[in-house]
Amino acid sequence: MEEKIRFGGMEFANPLLAASSPLTETAGKVRCCQEAGFGGVILKTAAEYKRTGEGYGRKVVFLGEDYYADASYEREILTAEEGLALYEAVKAAGSGMAVIPSVSANSMEAEDWLRICRRFEMLGAGLIQLDFFYLGSSIRFGNGDFYRRLGEFLARLQSGLNAVVMPKLNFNFAPRETCMALADCGIGQVSLLDSIRVPLPERFGLHRDTTSYFGRKQLPLTLAYLRCAVEAGLEVCAGGGVSCVQDADLLLENGAKLVQTASFVLKNGFRSAPVLLHRTPAVISGNWRTWCEAERYGGKGCEFCGFCRK
Ligand SMILES: Cc1cc2nc3c(=O)[nH]c(=O)nc-3n(C[C@H](O)[C@H](O)[C@H](O)COP(=O)(O)O)c2cc1C
Repeated sequence: MEEKIRFGGMEFANPLLAASSPLTETAGKVRCCQEAGFGGVILKTAAEYKRTGEGYGRKVVFLGEDYYADASYEREILTAEEGLALYEAVKAAGSGMAVIPSVSANSMEAEDWLRICRRFEMLGAGLIQLDFFYLGSSIRFGNGDFYRRLGEFLARLQSGLNAVVMPKLNFNFAPRETCMALADCGIGQVSLLDSIRVPLPERFGLHRDTTSYFGRKQLPLTLAYLRCAVEAGLEVCAGGGVSCVQDADLLLENGAKLVQTASFVLKNGFRSAPVLLHRTPAVISGNWRTWCEAERYGGKGCEFCGFCRK
């Protein structure tokens, strides 16, 4: 019998988590995550905003095994109502997995984040991921005052909640300064590392400001952030660039308590997840796609994003 892992006040049956991604954007796919044997899921990020319908869909370009993906905020971020409904549906299905909502807001005002965190907390969330990815364009990282303000913001946010908050870092954050600021303001858990914004040349046809790189070249960066977080005494849910079981082991050997993955399973299917735990592939009921919303696109209405290389 495997020993349960305690992290941020929650229990996980094993250290492997499905990262906030297309893998966790519908209740059907979260059920596949359960059948695949994940110890937990971080749901697709939700924010309080109104979808105007002016966004654009996902586009993907593969260069070898690595890929670049592009989509608008509207395509990627669930509205608060969608996120809360997803959380409720997943909890009602009673997966037994640890379920972590992920939230975002477009300021560093604690009040803006508290509102949506409290709504998840009222539904029973004990641990909430804070997704800072889209703050990249609206704040100035790295100026002298930034890390003091970040600490104040997080301290205010955490003191207004019973749920534990877990910031998710991205490449905009200086690793050492950020991890020290988190530890100093009483944050105990951190999630890393989000994808890296890299504009491809125009001929690839992706939007410059929203294109991200996904692939194994990210792993050394993830390791660098992991080392700083461990040194600062934080508990880490680490991922970004994991492409085989040895990569997952490397993160655990370097002090991660949990490992999160998106691309490996997006590419190889839900059944592949147990491979990252040294287990044999799982049996998944139904023929679920990992990347697109099979219920919504189900054969018809394909987004033609290019992920399945058609
Ligand atoms: C299409 C797509 C959508 C994603 N959406 C989110 C999101 O809503 N919130 C979030 O925190 N991370 C999001 N991510 C980032 C993943 O959680 C993860 O950090 C990233 O893919 C790196 O891990 P990987 O190398 O295992 O893919 C997304 C990734 C992809 C590919």
